[in-house]
Amino acid sequence: MHSDTVCILGGTGFVGRHIANRLANTDVRIKVLTGHPERNRHLLPIPNLQLIGGNAHDEATLRRELADVDTVINLVGVLNDSNKPGAGFEAAHVELPDKLVSACRASGVERLLHMSALGASPEAPSRYQQTKGRGEQRIMAAHGDDLAVTVFRPSVVFGREDNFLNTFASMLRLAPVLVIPMPEARFQPIYVGDVADAFIQAMDRRASFGQRYDLCGPEVYTLRQLVEYCARVMGLKRRVIGLSDGLSRLQGRIMQHLPGKLYTYDNYLSATVDNVCSGNDLAELGIQATGLDAVVPYYLGGRRQRQRYSEYRRLARR
Ligand SMILES: NC(=O)c1ccc[n+]([C@@H]2O[C@H](COP(=O)([O-])OP(=O)(O)OC[C@H]3O[C@@H](n4cnc5c(N)ncnc54)[C@H](OP(=O)(O)O)[C@@H]3O)[C@@H](O)[C@H]2O)c1
Repeated sequence: MHSDTVCILGGTGFVGRHIANRLANTDVRIKVLTGHPERNRHLLPIPNLQLIGGNAHDEATLRRELADVDTVINLVGVLNDSNKPGAGFEAAHVELPDKLVSACRASGVERLLHMSALGASPEAPSRYQQTKGRGEQRIMAAHGDDLAVTVFRPSVVFGREDNFLNTFASMLRLAPVLVIPMPEARFQPIYVGDVADAFIQAMDRRASFGQRYDLCGPEVYTLRQLVEYCARVMGLKRRVIGLSDGLSRLQGRIMQHLPGKLYTYDNYLSATVDNVCSGNDLAELGIQATGLDAVVPYYLGGRRQRQRYSEYRRLARR
């Protein structure tokens, strides 16, 4: 099977932009369906990319836009729940996958690659992980002769413009002491370029049909170690204080009512289970995981433009 036209849902986001860039200048036609085409015009220089304004939750829109597509990549996900129509966990993580499967079948799409998350399970402690887990189940159940599906479950993803290390970096710049919840929660951060490569490698690979891939980087870190790593890379001398489990829970309950929802009770619940891999699924796709040191100093360390060049080369795989 060869993918000629790929439609990416959530293609304007952090991971989506990397996948689109990996497909740039290939013979694949890329359609990015977005609720905010004006905000995402920066993607238009990719010559084989078409930005389509439309609501991914509208079934008629989905069927229309998938009519000339053979492969769909679904990256839609939200970190915090919401009451706005289409914006909450249930709508983004469960209802949209259901609609997508129906639209794929109705439009003759043969390949569906779906982004879940490490730890996603209907039995997981947080609503984020539960809804991601139920959506993943729906996608896996849809696998068949007419529609080949593959699911990806990354740990936390890092790279320039990430939401994770950059948030800690912003806080570290502000004060000499940083108080963090759940300091011993364990993560295995994966580079966004490796996640993008996993999608590209799996796209036309028969061995990946019907499979789930847990995606992790080469090293396990506690949250405290990650924050201390950021401070070190930034050349800042900072004291990192970890909250107890009880205080972390309280912080989540209080902070979820603040604008921006930097930290919520659901985030606290997600961090009560380790976010690490038991094997190396990335290697099955022929990808060697990139460590923090190869990338993070170039966007948090204030290295000069000339030094950044080597990261750009790495991103472009040149
Ligand atoms: N980043 C991580 O550390 C990480 C870790 C594990 C799993 N994941 C999963 O990986 C996927 C991509 O993550 P990301 O970091 O690239 O996310 P992101 O930067 O927030 O991008 C998500 C994209 O999804 C679209 N979107 C958001 N809410 C939507 C909604 N309610 N309905 C329809 N579209 C919506 C947005 O596109 P428009 O605004 O253009 O419509 C946005 O560009 C998500 O499913 C996420 O759960 C991410």
